[in-house]
Amino acid sequence: PVIPFVVAVDGPAGSGKSSVSKEVARRLGYGFLDTGAAYRALAWHAEASGVDTDDAASVISSLASFDYRIGTDPTGYAVHVGETEVTDAIRDPRISAVVSRVARVPEVRTYLIEQFRSSMAGESRPGIVVEGRDITTVVAPDAPVRILLTASPEVRAARRSAELVGSSTADVGEQIRRRDEADARVVDFMTAAEGVTTVDSTKLDFDQTVEAVIGVIRSFQPVTG
Ligand code: CDP
Ligand code: CDP
Repeated sequence: PVIPFVVAVDGPAGSGKSSVSKEVARRLGYGFLDTGAAYRALAWHAEASGVDTDDAASVISSLASFDYRIGTDPTGYAVHVGETEVTDAIRDPRISAVVSRVARVPEVRTYLIEQFRSSMAGESRPGIVVEGRDITTVVAPDAPVRILLTASPEVRAARRSAELVGSSTADVGEQIRRRDEADARVVDFMTAAEGVTTVDSTKLDFDQTVEAVIGVIRSFQPVTG
């Protein structure tokens, strides 16, 4: 089989990773993998099964019954846990508040990273955009294109609160800050590792960010035809 061209994208909450990566994948005819959705789906599954997410051993046990599916089609993106579609439910602030607790468990990371790698290898489109926190450094450090997508904390909070009805930018900013702080203890996604290209979206709108990322990808692709 042909090995798909991997574009690795990391960054903090609200930098635009998911929405931008999905659109980039759509325009290039690539697959799209949202790794954060897997951690969120596990947090949802743990909550639904009455697991105490503060107890690592219980979280690890819950992996045995964790049956989830995340497609790589950027146009028909959906997340399932068992028979339940959880695409929207896993974005709930309740899940955002506990997801870092399941993501910090090393056994959870090893388990999910294995699955991300098989998703990447099994991609039937010519490439795949994979986004998360540790894609450029741990999941796919050998990817031909690696990008760190950043934006100022203020802009990230404003973008996220615009999506959540009835929550103030200040509250959302504080929630994001706390989650980034917890996540940063596990992986560094605030500084670009060697060979990783930073795209700062603070002053870019959505479309300009998509163009900037595609520009980086093109600069790494051999010119053909
Ligand atoms: O979209 P947002 O930035 O809010 O978060 P996400 O990408 O959906 O990721 C949700 C959570 O999953 C993060 O806060 C991390 O705790 C965890 N995560 C991770 O540990 N490693 C990844 N590669 C992706 C997400
Ligand atoms: O996945 P991550 O948490 O990094 O961010 P996201 O969920 O993709 O983006 C958060 C919001 O910011 C979305 O509603 C995007 O449309 C928006 N966005 C923006 O307004 N301007 C950009 N340059 C990038 C994203």
